[in-house]
Amino acid sequence: MTLLRLFAACILCLIAVPAAAQSVQQAPSGSQIVASADSPSNIIHVDVTLNAEGRVGYIVTRLGKPVIDESRLGFLFTDAPEMLRNFAFAGQSNRSFDETWEEPWGEYRTIRNHYNELTVSFDETKWMKRRMTVVFRLFDDGIGFRYELPKTPNFTHANIADELTEFNVAEPGTAWWDEALEWNREEYLYRKTPIDEIGTAQTPLTIRTSSGLHLSIHEAALVDYSGMDLRRVADRVLKANLMPSSTGPKVSRDLPLATPWRVIMIAPDAPALYKSAQIILNLNEPNKLGDISGWFKPMKYVGIWWAMHLDKATWNSGPKHGATTANAERMIDFAAKNGFGGVLVEGWNRGWDGDWFGNGWDFSFTQPYPDFDLPAVAAYARKKGVGLIGHHETAGNIANYEKQMDAAFDLYQRLGIHAVKTGYVADAGGIQALGADGKIHFEWHQGQVMVDHHMKVVTDAAKHRIAVDAHEPVKDTGLRRTYPNWVSREGQRGMEYNAWGTPKNPPEHEANLVFTRMLSGPMDFTPGILSLKGKDNTPILSTLAKQLALYIVIYSPIQMAADLPENYAANPKTFQFIKDVAVDWDDTRMLAGEVGDLVVFARKQRGSPNWVLGAVGDEQERHFDVPLDFLEPARRYRAEIYRDGDDADYRTNPRSIVIEQRIVTSKDRMAMRIAPGGGAAVRFVALGR
Ligand code: NOJ
Ligand code: CA
Repeated sequence: MTLLRLFAACILCLIAVPAAAQSVQQAPSGSQIVASADSPSNIIHVDVTLNAEGRVGYIVTRLGKPVIDESRLGFLFTDAPEMLRNFAFAGQSNRSFDETWEEPWGEYRTIRNHYNELTVSFDETKWMKRRMTVVFRLFDDGIGFRYELPKTPNFTHANIADELTEFNVAEPGTAWWDEALEWNREEYLYRKTPIDEIGTAQTPLTIRTSSGLHLSIHEAALVDYSGMDLRRVADRVLKANLMPSSTGPKVSRDLPLATPWRVIMIAPDAPALYKSAQIILNLNEPNKLGDISGWFKPMKYVGIWWAMHLDKATWNSGPKHGATTANAERMIDFAAKNGFGGVLVEGWNRGWDGDWFGNGWDFSFTQPYPDFDLPAVAAYARKKGVGLIGHHETAGNIANYEKQMDAAFDLYQRLGIHAVKTGYVADAGGIQALGADGKIHFEWHQGQVMVDHHMKVVTDAAKHRIAVDAHEPVKDTGLRRTYPNWVSREGQRGMEYNAWGTPKNPPEHEANLVFTRMLSGPMDFTPGILSLKGKDNTPILSTLAKQLALYIVIYSPIQMAADLPENYAANPKTFQFIKDVAVDWDDTRMLAGEVGDLVVFARKQRGSPNWVLGAVGDEQERHFDVPLDFLEPARRYRAEIYRDGDDADYRTNPRSIVIEQRIVTSKDRMAMRIAPGGGAAVRFVALGR
């Protein structure tokens, strides 16, 4: 793996403007505009406002048209007066920044981080005379802003009851969102409603306005703070709603503090919205781990997993125990034979017998079941050139896990295991954490306690040269830039719902996810169910070609080939694509896309001239016709095409697939029909010039 390199110049300029020098301009509401800034190409503009009551606000426009109307900023505290009114402008500074940095693995080899920054400070004129600073970063395709609360003699610790940040969407429009604060955590289907029918939503929340603008609201660099949901408080006004904590304030922090970045991605269309998600990474700190390529490489993996979801094997001990030495060695053989880098083994450790869900006290993270010889399996994997992926299901009991975590990572390190899938399966609000009072408290998956827990896991794992893929995780806010061992997460309704879900994932699910949850980061979706069957042979709502397309459309540096080996043996021609497809990219371009309807991606394999194209649609028949001008000019490519058969339909003929080859160049186009519930996957293998 390439070292993370910072190779472009950073241009910094600081202009301090004293309060007295401001000319007085007014917002439509009558508030005074106290500071303003533009993005590098003058596309996005922000005004910072102060009204007659001393309330601070902000306004965002794009090319002169309102995007976010005046929206309030501030905080509530549990042990101090609110920060809402009585502010006076105290000064501003501006700077510009431009760098291009390299992702150690990812969807793009390089990412440009180009913004203008505006820092505005306000002082309270009454009460505690505190200061509130807001830092805005303006990119050409969105903004990020965060609060900074300095430490002053009478304000040294913040017990935050809630954030008063608002997002007052200027135009009506359609929103794609999923419920927050519900029992099944992050694993809901997306809803499509007018903005003014949003309830309390998780982020990213995506909007298409009546003028066609695409917005998504999310957060970046969620560190030692509580996750943000969005609660609609008036027509199109969404307000930050921090996740609760059972011990009082939603956030408890010593000062000074900087909050996570509140991010609004702003793009003219759906493909541009996808690219604007680079802002999330840009708002995170650079790599703190250095070169991890010696122990983590993007890979495909298989596992002792899907069989459990089909009820053909069990996590617990007994006659159907899945994680036996013999089964694991068979899976290692299968991985080695087919070129897969990893084998996940779930149910290897003691604690799965009895009532583990939402309990988790019995889990040992170091003691294998007697029929699973961990050192022997690890040695066998090493001999075959395959990596084991360890498994730490906590059932949300982080009190039990944290006690054992260091020993568990030590064990993996000794055995040469460099990746772990963690799991926190418990109902929302069912995390068991040890409080400062020595008692167990029940917490939320996205609350400050869990945000801190994940940071402990990821940093401790890094010390042991272990990469982390978390299930039922805290949301992704781009921390993979800083901690590149945080490689993926299963924080969405994944493939497993096609085994036993009610309902199963509908055909539009992935075309929704790409423009919503996937804006936050990689998704371990566990694709590739070529049987197209879930538990009890119930049908999956997908064509065969779509299962292949998911390897391109859903991004993750670790991609599972989730089906049973016998189902791959029964489908050798389609399995060939899963063996061939890459998992790490130099470049990614969305060639066509509409939220929830259609996605067509082209991705260039890292370190290779080869490209792929992947497309998925929804329940309707869809078509695309795209130029292949992303290919290297004057070079010939063999297009290996896996597309829906002309009569394919997820309801009636899901297995109808055409596998064909064509020679193409960058001057050609590719037009295709996507069947209802279908998809397409193409590899462009570079030939001579
Ligand atoms: C629940 C997860 O949804 C599933 O994927 C996993 O296999 C089990 N927990 C056990 O960890
Ligand atoms: Ca649709």
